[in-house]
Amino acid sequence: MSKLKTKTTIITGAANGIGLAAARLFAAEGAAIVLADVDVKNGEAAAEEINRGNGQALFVKTDVSIETEMHGLVQTTLKHFGDLDIMYNNAGYQETHKLHELSDDSWNRQVDINLRGSYLGCKFAVEHFMRKRSGTILNTSSIAGVFPTCDRPAYNAAKGGVIMLTKNIAMEYGEYNIRANVICPGVVRTKMTGLLDNDPESEEGGKRASVLHRVGEPEEIAKAALFLVSDDASFITGISLFVDGGMNLGGLWR
Ligand SMILES: NC(=O)c1ccc[n+]([C@@H]2O[C@H](COP(=O)([O-])OP(=O)(O)OC[C@H]3O[C@@H](n4cnc5c(N)ncnc54)[C@H](O)[C@@H]3O)[C@@H](O)[C@H]2O)c1
Repeated sequence: MSKLKTKTTIITGAANGIGLAAARLFAAEGAAIVLADVDVKNGEAAAEEINRGNGQALFVKTDVSIETEMHGLVQTTLKHFGDLDIMYNNAGYQETHKLHELSDDSWNRQVDINLRGSYLGCKFAVEHFMRKRSGTILNTSSIAGVFPTCDRPAYNAAKGGVIMLTKNIAMEYGEYNIRANVICPGVVRTKMTGLLDNDPESEEGGKRASVLHRVGEPEEIAKAALFLVSDDASFITGISLFVDGGMNLGGLWR
C-alpha cells in the first residue's frame, strides 16, 4: 500500500467525515498528512490516531476562509515536512434557506468556506507547485455544484464556482505539471447530511436520490479521491468526477 509514498498532503476539513476518511486512507498509502480544520478536538485526535498507527500526521488549526491562516498552513507544512505535493480542499459547510430568506451573513459564510477556502488553498499551493514544477490539486464540489437543489442557493453557487475554479487552474498551470480535478459527491453519511444520527427521513431521502438505492460512505469518496491525487490519474486533469451512486442520472427527482 504505497500509492502516495513520500507525498506530503494537506487535507482541509479533515477532522470529520470525508476528510477524515481520506486522511486515514492517504496515510495508509504512505502520505505524510497535514490535517487542517477548525475542529481542534477531532482534528488532534485524528492526527494522533494516524501517528499511533505508524503514519505521519500533523494537525494545524485552520479556518479555510481566512487568508493568513491558509498561507500559514502551507508554510507550516513546508517547515514541518519539507515539501507539499497534494492539496486537497475538502472543507465545506451548508445552510438551508430560500434565497428571499437568506441573510448576507449566511451567504458570506457558505461562499467563504466552500469557494474562498478552495481559492486560497489552491493559490498558496500553486505558488509552491510552480517553483517545483509539479503538484496535484483536488477540490470538493458536490452534486449540488452541477444540479440546483431547493433551499441551497449559496451552497449551489459556491460549489458551482469550485468546479470552474478547478478547470481554470487545470488549464492555466498544466504547463507546470500541475493537475487539478474536482470531486462531486452525492449523498454521503456524514454530520453534514444528518445521516450520522440514523434519522429515518434523511436516510430515506438519501436512498431515493441514488440509483443504487443507498447513501454513500465517506470511505467511498476517499477511494475516488485517492485515485485522482495518485499517479494512477497522471494523465487526468480538469475533470469533475461524480461519486454519487448515479444520482446525476436523475435519481434526486425519481
Ligand atoms: N456529505 C455529503 O453528502 C456531501 C455531498 C456533497 C459534497 N460534500 C462536500 O464534501 C466535503 C466534506 O463534507 P462532509 O460531508 O465530510 O462534512 P462534515 O461536516 O462531516 O465535515 C466537514 C469538515 O469541514 C470542517 N470545516 C467547516 N468549516 C471550516 C472552516 N471554516 N475551516 C476549516 N474547516 C472547516 C468541519 O469542522 C468538518 O470537520 C464538503 O466540502 C462538503 O460540502 C458532502
